[in-house]
Amino acid sequence: MAPHAGFQLRSADDLRAEAGRLGLDIPYRDDIAILLETASFGGRAAPNRLAVLPMEGADAKSSGEPSSWTLRRYRRYAAGGAGLIWSEATAVRRDGRSNPGQLLLTEASLGGFARLVEETRAAAKKEWGPGHDPLLVLQLTHSGRFSRPDGTPRPLIVQHNPHLDPLRDIPPDAPLVSDGELAAIRDDFVEAAALAASAGFDAVDIKACHGYLVSETLAAHDREDSRYGGPFENRARLLLEIVRLVREEAPGLLVTSRLSATDLVPFPFGFGMDPDRPERIDLGETKALVALLARAGARFLSLSLGIPSWRPHFGRPFDKPLPGGAVPTEHPLEGVARHLGVAAEIQLSSPRTAVVGAGYSWLRALGPGVAAGMVASGRSAAFALGRGALAYPDFAADLIRTGRMSPRKACTTCSLCSLLLRRQERVGCVVRDPEYKGAAREGRNP
Ligand SMILES: Cc1cc2nc3c(=O)[nH]c(=O)nc-3n(C[C@H](O)[C@H](O)[C@H](O)COP(=O)(O)O)c2cc1C
Repeated sequence: MAPHAGFQLRSADDLRAEAGRLGLDIPYRDDIAILLETASFGGRAAPNRLAVLPMEGADAKSSGEPSSWTLRRYRRYAAGGAGLIWSEATAVRRDGRSNPGQLLLTEASLGGFARLVEETRAAAKKEWGPGHDPLLVLQLTHSGRFSRPDGTPRPLIVQHNPHLDPLRDIPPDAPLVSDGELAAIRDDFVEAAALAASAGFDAVDIKACHGYLVSETLAAHDREDSRYGGPFENRARLLLEIVRLVREEAPGLLVTSRLSATDLVPFPFGFGMDPDRPERIDLGETKALVALLARAGARFLSLSLGIPSWRPHFGRPFDKPLPGGAVPTEHPLEGVARHLGVAAEIQLSSPRTAVVGAGYSWLRALGPGVAAGMVASGRSAAFALGRGALAYPDFAADLIRTGRMSPRKACTTCSLCSLLLRRQERVGCVVRDPEYKGAAREGRNP
C-alpha cells in the first residue's frame, strides 16, 4: 500500500505514470464520445451515459417532502445535462429516516415527489429540448442501524456486529429486528415503490448498500433461526422479495438496486468477504446476487463499496478526511482502482446487466477519460459522479459542449459535504456552490 496523498495529476500522462508507479489498472481513453451516446438501462433509454449518483441533501420538510433546496438541486442536475439522475435516499417509513431532513415517501408527501419529477423533467427539456428525457431513479431506503428519525439514534439492527455496534453505542443485549418486522418493512418498500411510480419516476432503487437495513441482511451470517439470516439464500431473501413484489405491484416501473458489492468489514460481519481470509474481498456471492436480481427483473444496478460510517475512504476516496477523521493508510488512487476493479468484475460476469460504478470524483477532470476506458472495454455502463455532481452539477453539459470537464469546477474531495450530512445539516458544496459558500464563510448553514 502506498501512503495517502492529495491529488496532483495535471494530465492523462500524469495519471498513467502514477497508476504505473502504484501498480494499478486504470483504463484511460482520450475520446470520451462513448459517454455521450444514448444508452439503455434496464430497457429504458437514457440520452447519455452521464449519471448523477444519489447524494442525500438532508433538506426535506419534516413531512418528508422535497423542500425548495431539494428541488433546486435536481433542477440543477437536470439542466446540467445528466442522462441518468439517481435521486437520493428516501425513507419508506418515518422510523427509517437517517436524519430528520431525509426525504420520506408516503401518501402525505406524494405531491412533493410528483413536483420533484415534474420540475426535474421540465428543467432538462428547457435546456436540452423535448428529445432529452433523463432516466429518473428514486432510491428507497430504511436506515436500519443508522436510523435517526428525530435526530438521535434509534437503531434497528439485523445482527450484532462488533465493528459497527460501537459507532452507535449499541449495547450487546440490544434486541434484533424480528422477521415479522422485516416483512412489514418489505411491504413498506413495495408501497413506497407504487407511490414513486405514480409520482412519475422511471425506476426505484431498493437500497442495499452502506450498512443500511437491507444491506445488513445480506451480511447477516450470524442471525439464527431466521428467514433473513444464515445461508446465502436467506440473506438475499429480503432484497429479492422486495424486487419481485415491486415488479408485481408496479409492472411499468423499472427496479434496480444500489449494492455495496463488498462491505469491506471482515467476514462474518460483512457481505462480499472471504470466509477463509476474512479481511479479503470475495465477490462470489455478489455475482450470484446480481444474477438473481437480473432474473427477478433488476437489469441495471449501481455498485458502491463499504460502509461510510465505519471507513469512509473505501466508498469515497478523498484528499482530506472529515475533521477529526483518520487519514487512510492507502493512496486515494488505490481506492479509485478498487472501485473500478469491482465494477469491472461484476460487469464482466453479468454483461447483460448495466453496471453503474462509483468513486470517480477524486479523479476530477480526468474522470471522464477513465470512465470512457471502462465503458469502451465493457467494464461498466456509465460515468457517474456523487460528490462531483454536487460541486459541478453541469459537468455533463461541459462534456457534451466542450468534450471536457473544467478542473476549476471539479470537486476537491474535501469531505465538507460529508461533514454537513454527519451534522444533519443541509448538504451542499461549500467550495463551489455560491449559496453554500457564503453560508460557510459566515459559519451558518443556508
Ligand atoms: C454527502 C453525501 C451524501 C450521500 N448520499 C447518498 C445517498 O443518499 N445514497 C447513496 O447510495 N449514496 C450516497 N452517498 C454516496 C455517493 O453516492 C457516492 O457513492 C460516493 O460519494 C462516491 O462517489 P464519488 O466519488 O463520485 O463521490 C453520499 C455521499 C456523500 C458524500
